[in-house]
Amino acid sequence: MVRNLRKVALLILVFLLMFLIACEGNVSPKPRESREPKQEPISPDEDRIKIGFSMDTLEEERWPKDRDLFKEAVEALGAEVVIREAKGDDALQIVQAERLISEGIDLLVIVPHNAEAVATIVNKAHSAGIKVISYDRLVKNSSVDLYISFDNELVGELQAQAITKLVPKGKYVYIGGASTDNNAHLLKKGVFNVLQPLIDSGDIQIVYDQWTENWAPENAHAYMEAALKINKNEIDAVIAANDATAGGVIEALAAQGLTGKIPVAGQDADLAAVQRILKGTQTMTIYKPIKTLAYEAAGVAIKMAKGETIQTDRKVNNGKLEIPSLLLSPIAVDKNNMDETIIADGFHIKDEVYSDIGE
Ligand code: BGC
Repeated sequence: MVRNLRKVALLILVFLLMFLIACEGNVSPKPRESREPKQEPISPDEDRIKIGFSMDTLEEERWPKDRDLFKEAVEALGAEVVIREAKGDDALQIVQAERLISEGIDLLVIVPHNAEAVATIVNKAHSAGIKVISYDRLVKNSSVDLYISFDNELVGELQAQAITKLVPKGKYVYIGGASTDNNAHLLKKGVFNVLQPLIDSGDIQIVYDQWTENWAPENAHAYMEAALKINKNEIDAVIAANDATAGGVIEALAAQGLTGKIPVAGQDADLAAVQRILKGTQTMTIYKPIKTLAYEAAGVAIKMAKGETIQTDRKVNNGKLEIPSLLLSPIAVDKNNMDETIIADGFHIKDEVYSDIGE
């Protein structure tokens, strides 16, 4: 009896053991606690280069293009861009740029409202180990690291060449840009490179010459009204520093019934200006391919942020130093080459350009 009981107990034990072994095989092993320190997942953004873009204004038609194309180019290169617009306010531009510096940008790209006032930003950026690129407009009297723009002196020369071809002799009005913008000075220099010999020979007289605060069309309008009044409407040609100011000039001419009778030059290839050219109320403009500028600037900005050196073949004096410069070529446009330049490049869409003149 006892032996039988032992046998039964032994059998139960064997079954129990077999059951336990079978269970063990089916249970998946628990993951072992790692003894290695826990690693935070690496955020792909942490190593991304961050570019600050401090813009003066978005007023003229070109600047939103500069902003969007620059952003597109920086992002296509795998970097990040933080954009601030100063609305034409020097103090605000300085504060915004200071914030960008303290927010940890790797490089600052700046379109100065006032060529002199933002020099202080360049010093602050340098103290934080950040390089600065002057975009389109030069920061004067500073150690800015690179200047990228169009050849603005050539812009002025192309304007004056086109107008003197049509009006080799006569009374000229010059409506300049904002005197606080270095480009306005370069443009004027270019215009007078062409006009001066003709002024010296007596063929051309400058009957009115004025800077335009903030490049504002309403100021240009008022100056053109004054020029017409002083000269009893006897004016033969007008060179305006951009299309916005040319627009103001043309309104003042319209009020005197003079549109289309007096050649007017501008620059920027604004949509309204190219439509005026087709209508015959503006003679020519200067087309500056903004995409090329924005993409080139983005490329050099990222290279410089990585510590690479940029090869340049031009230097421009900013009153303090010879600044390594990249200057792109502007293109003179009138109704004869509009299709092969502005429209072929997609700067403006053909339908939009011709919509206003009913073609
Ligand atoms: C730019 C022009 C622009 C003007 C007004 C200049 O510095 O080169 O393209 O029309 O500023 O914004």
